[in-house]
Amino acid sequence: MSLKRSVTVLGSTGSVGVSTLDLLDQARRHGSAEVELVALTANRNVEKLAEQALRWRPRLAVIADEACRAELAERLAGSGVEVAAGPEAVAEAAAMGAEWVMAAIVGVAGLAPTLAAARSGAVVALANKESLVCAGPALLDASRAAGGTVIPVDSEHSAIFQVLQPEAAGRVARLILTASGGPFRDWPLEAMADATPEQAVAHPNWSMGAKISIDSATMMNKGLETIEAAYLFSMPADRIEVLIHPQSVVHSLVEYQDGSTLAQLGPPDMRAPIACAFAWPERMAWPAPRLDLAAVGALTFQAPDPRRFPALAVARQALEHGRGAPAALNAANETAVAAFLDRKIGFLDIAAAVAETLERLDGDGGLLAGGDGDALETAMTIDRTARRTAADVLAAMASAH
Ligand SMILES: NC(=O)c1ccc[n+]([C@@H]2O[C@H](COP(=O)([O-])OP(=O)(O)OC[C@H]3O[C@@H](n4cnc5c(N)ncnc54)[C@H](OP(=O)(O)O)[C@@H]3O)[C@@H](O)[C@H]2O)c1
Repeated sequence: MSLKRSVTVLGSTGSVGVSTLDLLDQARRHGSAEVELVALTANRNVEKLAEQALRWRPRLAVIADEACRAELAERLAGSGVEVAAGPEAVAEAAAMGAEWVMAAIVGVAGLAPTLAAARSGAVVALANKESLVCAGPALLDASRAAGGTVIPVDSEHSAIFQVLQPEAAGRVARLILTASGGPFRDWPLEAMADATPEQAVAHPNWSMGAKISIDSATMMNKGLETIEAAYLFSMPADRIEVLIHPQSVVHSLVEYQDGSTLAQLGPPDMRAPIACAFAWPERMAWPAPRLDLAAVGALTFQAPDPRRFPALAVARQALEHGRGAPAALNAANETAVAAFLDRKIGFLDIAAAVAETLERLDGDGGLLAGGDGDALETAMTIDRTARRTAADVLAAMASAH
């Protein structure tokens, strides 16, 4: 059986975007998918976007950075692929009517396009967890109202999505998100204080973009995923737990009230959850890497150390606070990760800066209370204010660094 879909890939030049196109290519060759590409988008990587557009011939290729428009137009001249530029054009591309939209932009920059895709009624394959963290309820409501679906692509949420039986949703005791523990899983706190960006991006099991790799090292990634799970599966914070599982084979678990726990397993390869989101509710055959449990040998688990990974508790507090706090958490984290990658602050300063930013904002006239207006506007107002506060906090840390 061959699955026919019109497809847009937002963030096609990134790690998830490239995995998506690779999966679609393999499924196409395997005879299990027929894909019509509607749009591909990137931020500044003109060379890769043009190469992908020449190969896939979408109707439209969009580059978010206006300064790159001329080069993209030149590279695609005569190809028949239309060219556009700017953040608004990315959001317009998201709503061009593709049946399946991969949301794989990194950071809050993905919020407007992901929301536009949800409002268009598309099936949104959601990798861009930051958009859910910043405006989760509004994003899910928009998709439902337009008759669309949001299918998680984060491997942990894909796992829960696959084993959460809809008829037993009210009988779930706990969701358990697994975490590899990142490159500093067994490092002492003193060594983590001196960790470099190179050491922090060197993830032991997954090859990913720089931002999510740093989030994995601080475990803020698992904090963001806790918020993501709360929104996606309507689960309170106190029923979502995190468990370190260094082999990254068990992608997450659902414990039911009768004591039975269901897990989803697979090799650590993002193409598997992407294939699941592409084919849902079907299953698609493609030359997938297979899990060889005998070769893996042992699956181990341990509780995360809150002293070495304080970001987990900071994110949980933001979730419990609710309203604007998750969007502020995300903005502070994006700002702090950028400062760490620029070598302006130390590794342990990332979580400390996020916590301090949230504390300042909480005492600062109700920003974290959010707002009742347009979800995108509210989230972006919180984002801008939280970035300014985080910049002040980081400047003080940088001068002490
Ligand atoms: N990588 C993984 O295995 C993985 C797993 C689970 C979830 N995720 C989530 O998936 C998302 C993407 O992660 P990634 O690792 O693929 O990131 P990445 O490799 O850094 O790629 C990010 C993509 O977004 C584009 N982009 C960046 N800033 C943009 C902007 N301001 N406007 C428009 N486009 C922009 C980039 O374009 P350029 O190439 O031009 O910069 C690139 O195409 C993140 O939210 C991440 O948390 C990733």
